[in-house]
Amino acid sequence: MAAPPPTPRRATDPVAYRPGREADLDACGRIWKAGIEDYQARLNQPSMPDDLAPLRRLFAHLLSTDPERFWVATRGDELIGFASASVRDGLWFLAMLFVDPAAQGGGIGQALMDRAQAGRDVDPGGPAVPGPDEPLDTGIHTWGMCTDAVQPISNGLYARRGMVPRIPIWRLFGEVRRWDALPLPPASVDPVPFEAIVAQGGGGPDGTRRLADLVDGLDRAIVGSAHGRDHAWLRREGRAGFLLRDRGDGRPLGYAYGSSVGRLGPVAALDPDLSPVLIGAAVRGVPALGPVAMWVPGTSDRAMRMLLEAGLRFDGFPGLICWSTPGHPFERYAPISLAMV
Ligand SMILES: CC(C)(COP(=O)(O)OP(=O)(O)OC[C@H]1O[C@@H](n2cnc3c(N)ncnc32)[C@H](O)[C@@H]1OP(=O)(O)O)[C@@H](O)C(=O)NCCC(=O)NCCS
Repeated sequence: MAAPPPTPRRATDPVAYRPGREADLDACGRIWKAGIEDYQARLNQPSMPDDLAPLRRLFAHLLSTDPERFWVATRGDELIGFASASVRDGLWFLAMLFVDPAAQGGGIGQALMDRAQAGRDVDPGGPAVPGPDEPLDTGIHTWGMCTDAVQPISNGLYARRGMVPRIPIWRLFGEVRRWDALPLPPASVDPVPFEAIVAQGGGGPDGTRRLADLVDGLDRAIVGSAHGRDHAWLRREGRAGFLLRDRGDGRPLGYAYGSSVGRLGPVAALDPDLSPVLIGAAVRGVPALGPVAMWVPGTSDRAMRMLLEAGLRFDGFPGLICWSTPGHPFERYAPISLAMV
């Protein structure tokens, strides 16, 4: 028997909020595309891609790691907005907040934010939502996200909650045209593929744990939180990691990812002077089939200068990193994307 047609929604129907589920993810992708194209079309920007399969895999990852922070808004049978955030070692990071353009400006975005911050349902006017000034014993020490610089609504909504736009983050894109701009590693350091670390650790689960310990240690020292589940997702998505080690005592100094489809990052460096070496190792270690692209915070000045020197271009408008504390890791860290730190 054919499924009954969805009940048409009316603007006056009440809005309901519930945790998201796997069956919602295609509709979330449609809201994401409509939400971005609605404001970018007014700026003569090109449409978003039609192939939403990579985005859907990202949603599925976030739903699997943080189901209590993935919320949808519905009116009748129709999904009209969603929010998703992750928490890693006390770092809360907003991945997505999107409301159907026809339903914007009516408080739905704020209601979704409340739930993504609280990690549970929240009554309007009920118990306070945790935030930078009142973490409410949640263990969350930092709140952050990346936004679009041309979107005053989201930037205003987050800044009111203490996550103020502090740092521009640019997408750098293009062919490497001047290879000599990418520094080769000095004799004192050694870039080692992640697979080699696993093999040196005996292969199998022991080797994987050894690699995870090294990477977690760097993330705690540089970002302030480990995010092993996201590293596992990156490798499933085809990104290949390199660990930079001191050739003398073997100390880990940083890591960087490359990929054959040209996606670079994340890049983490204990010493920011090593960022260009790390990026060079990732670009040379995983030859891309075409152009390369990387999200680079304005505070990662050495990486930015080096990539521009190599021939990449600024692509589109910058994003903004919104962060609850003045101390941040972005001189030494370039994130996975605007959706995941
Ligand atoms: C951003 C978005 C999710 C907000 O949802 P919404 O339901 O439209 O927003 P709400 O009605 O809940 O909240 C509006 C709040 O935004 C803020 N705001 C709106 N315009 C603003 C401006 N020009 N300057 C500063 N703050 C502004 C205010 O805090 C306002 O609250 P108020 O009306 O009580 O003062 C929605 O507009 C959207 O989907 N936009 C397109 C996609 C997008 O940019 N998503 C964010 C990606 S990081």
